[in-house]
Amino acid sequence: MKVLQVELGERSYPIYIGSDLLSQPELLTQHIKAKQVLIVTNTTIAPLYLATVLESLHDYCVETVILPDGEQYKTLDTITQIFDTLLAAKFSRNSTLIALGGGVIGDMGGFAAACYQRGIRFLQIPTTLLAQVDSSVGGKTGVNHPLGKNMIGAFYQPHCVIADASVLDTLDDRQLAAGLAEVIKYGLIRDAEFFAWLENNMPALLARDKTALAYAIEQSCLNKAQVVTEDETETGVRATLNLGHTFGHAIETGSGYGHYLHGEAVAIGTCQAADLSRRKGWLTDADVNRIITLFEQAKLPTVPPKALDSDRFLELMAVDKKNIDGQIRLILLEKIGLATLPVYVELALLEMTLKSYGRA
Ligand code: NAD
Ligand code: GLY
Repeated sequence: MKVLQVELGERSYPIYIGSDLLSQPELLTQHIKAKQVLIVTNTTIAPLYLATVLESLHDYCVETVILPDGEQYKTLDTITQIFDTLLAAKFSRNSTLIALGGGVIGDMGGFAAACYQRGIRFLQIPTTLLAQVDSSVGGKTGVNHPLGKNMIGAFYQPHCVIADASVLDTLDDRQLAAGLAEVIKYGLIRDAEFFAWLENNMPALLARDKTALAYAIEQSCLNKAQVVTEDETETGVRATLNLGHTFGHAIETGSGYGHYLHGEAVAIGTCQAADLSRRKGWLTDADVNRIITLFEQAKLPTVPPKALDSDRFLELMAVDKKNIDGQIRLILLEKIGLATLPVYVELALLEMTLKSYGRA
């Protein structure tokens, strides 16, 4: 097992990365300080892993909330079920909420933990590759609104993250690929060597080679932990983690939550960001080809849906947390391995990408 640390002073916490971690109860229990524990999970994950986690917690007073599965349920309405259970069972301020699931459960569980009595202990057990390499680390929590993705939320750090690669065995290939989109992101924004490693090892990752997957999770978490340590609340460098996400969120919102997986939308959005970076004169044609090829190798989509025209894209991209005074700001690439901070882009150039990239 590898242990990485997210260094945030008194809110620092470990990320445990390895195999068969769910069958090591003390990893979990050492971070629980009182008897009341709520596990939040969903209808898909509960039959697979809830019993194992409950087994670790037989000395505790455990309640469970099993939410419906899907991005379309990442709403304030759904979160009410968590508050209802916490209140009905009279959970106190020193109780613990465990999110057992992918990014949807982690984001909702974290937000509920942040809000309930203004904050209770929160532990993350991410069960998708995307959640293990990205969403469970760094404390971004929240829900979607019909007018914008992740628009309601809070920064709330977990007390630990348990990334057990064994649970990825039950993840389907499409979800695994979606997680690889965020893995590729780290290579693009700050780690050219890792990007090159991914170019050489994508077949092994898709074949679920355990050593390759463990390395990819570690490198991703290491990169994410460093960024979060430097800029916890996204006043600077953390925004680079949003490479491709402004385009991607527009694709997710515009196509209806649940149609594209988050990682799929990010893959397309990153290719659009790469195209725009080339139009800015930063990336070469060869760089853009390398980027698109790697996403294709990862079995991810790389072109936007035809139904979203450039006007609709612009409308949707205007609802983004990086924007200031209604002006769109984007993360672009100066080169492979180096992202810009949020930049204003000439509208004409952005429209060229929206109208030309992937539209032929
Ligand atoms: P998800 O949570 O919807 O999980 C994907 C699917 O896999 C679901 O059907 C889930 O039930 C299923 N599943 C989960 N683990 C499984 C397992 N081990 N075996 C079989 N099935 C399993 O999606 P996701 O890709 O994990 O997360 C996407 C969400 O994460 C989006 O809402 C996105 O906005 C959010 N996100 C948040 C951050 C952050 O920093 N907080 C970062 C990136 C993404
Ligand atoms: N996934 C983006 C962030 O954590 O900042």
